[in-house]
Amino acid sequence: MKLSRTWLSAAAALMLAVPATAHAKDYTVGLLLPYSGVYAALGKEIDQGFELALQTRLGEMAGSKIEIVREDTEVKPPVGLAKTRKLILQDQVDVMVGIVSSGVLGAIRDFVHQSGTPLIVANAGNDAATGARCSKFITRVSFSNGQVNRPMGEWMFKKGIKKVYTLAPDYAAGHQMIETFSAAFKAAGGTIVGGEFTPFRTTKDFGPYLTKAKSASPDAIFVFYAGGEAISFVRQYASFGVADSVPLYGSGFLTSPLYVNAEGPAAKGVVTSLHYVPTIDSPENAAFVKAFSAAYGHAPSEYAVQGYDAGQALVEAVKSGATDRAALADALGKVRFTSPRGPVEIDPATNNIVQNIYIYETVQGDGTLTQKILDVAKAVRDPVSGCQK
Ligand code: PHB
Repeated sequence: MKLSRTWLSAAAALMLAVPATAHAKDYTVGLLLPYSGVYAALGKEIDQGFELALQTRLGEMAGSKIEIVREDTEVKPPVGLAKTRKLILQDQVDVMVGIVSSGVLGAIRDFVHQSGTPLIVANAGNDAATGARCSKFITRVSFSNGQVNRPMGEWMFKKGIKKVYTLAPDYAAGHQMIETFSAAFKAAGGTIVGGEFTPFRTTKDFGPYLTKAKSASPDAIFVFYAGGEAISFVRQYASFGVADSVPLYGSGFLTSPLYVNAEGPAAKGVVTSLHYVPTIDSPENAAFVKAFSAAYGHAPSEYAVQGYDAGQALVEAVKSGATDRAALADALGKVRFTSPRGPVEIDPATNNIVQNIYIYETVQGDGTLTQKILDVAKAVRDPVSGCQK
């Protein structure tokens, strides 16, 4: 697949103000995302959010130009590692942005760390990357798998759900999301009556898994699926008749506004938790929803806001005067700003974001499905979990 290189520059606007001799530093950004495969739509949305932030805030960067070099991970860890090596060794990028899959993040972590290249993680929730395998060069502006799911364990138990069956794809993110949810649910008093991990990227037929889940007679099913797998799963949850008897809960990616309308009526009533929904009532979110919708013709999802905030974090780091990679990494680890999702800051102990987690129900809106916020867990911070930067 042919991916584009983009130059973004506010130099024209600044030409009169900046003396010819004072040339600001230009930056090369390696944007490493899945532009193909099961998470391709997620990659595109992150890319769009990132570009929107830079376009919006370029004027704040004192004449610096940003070159974006794009590479496709294909959601495959070995491909992600090969592309990381290319971006760092051949393109000599100043900073990398992106990574959707926890598996890819796990595969590139050591190379990124050893090369001393700052990486702004704009999706992959791999807990270890801001836990036992954290790095001062890795800053996450998206979420961690535990952060999104822990609040849901306690919340569901409080709502009277005592027995849960779990399903998720068989790779790092699936395991971590289910483990962290289950630990919180059990600590609250609940029981996990069974669960399974489905082959990642290849499962098309969820029927046998759904049948088994139903026969365990749980009060609810809790799952993590995203992208194309989420669409298939939710549709089949209805078509195999499970929706009639067992309610569905999960990580909020399951019913992301990016693809919830493709899931159709089966998504109605599903309750999930996430760090962003486009229905958050704040001036920052209203401005973001308006700008993103005007630029791309649809309301933004959590993936859009992650790309946007990766761009915002980069602008903040550049504005702090950081020019080399070490200074950029240092500055990225200290950013805080008001995001469309609410106030956010990077925790210096882990380099993971601290943010609100919203529990929301997918409901029928005006011609489309929309997100009704039921509850908010404020300023959720991860445990340090062995991180030594
Ligand atoms: C992950 O692999 O960490 C991951 C992928 C897609 C999501 C969320 C997490 O929507």
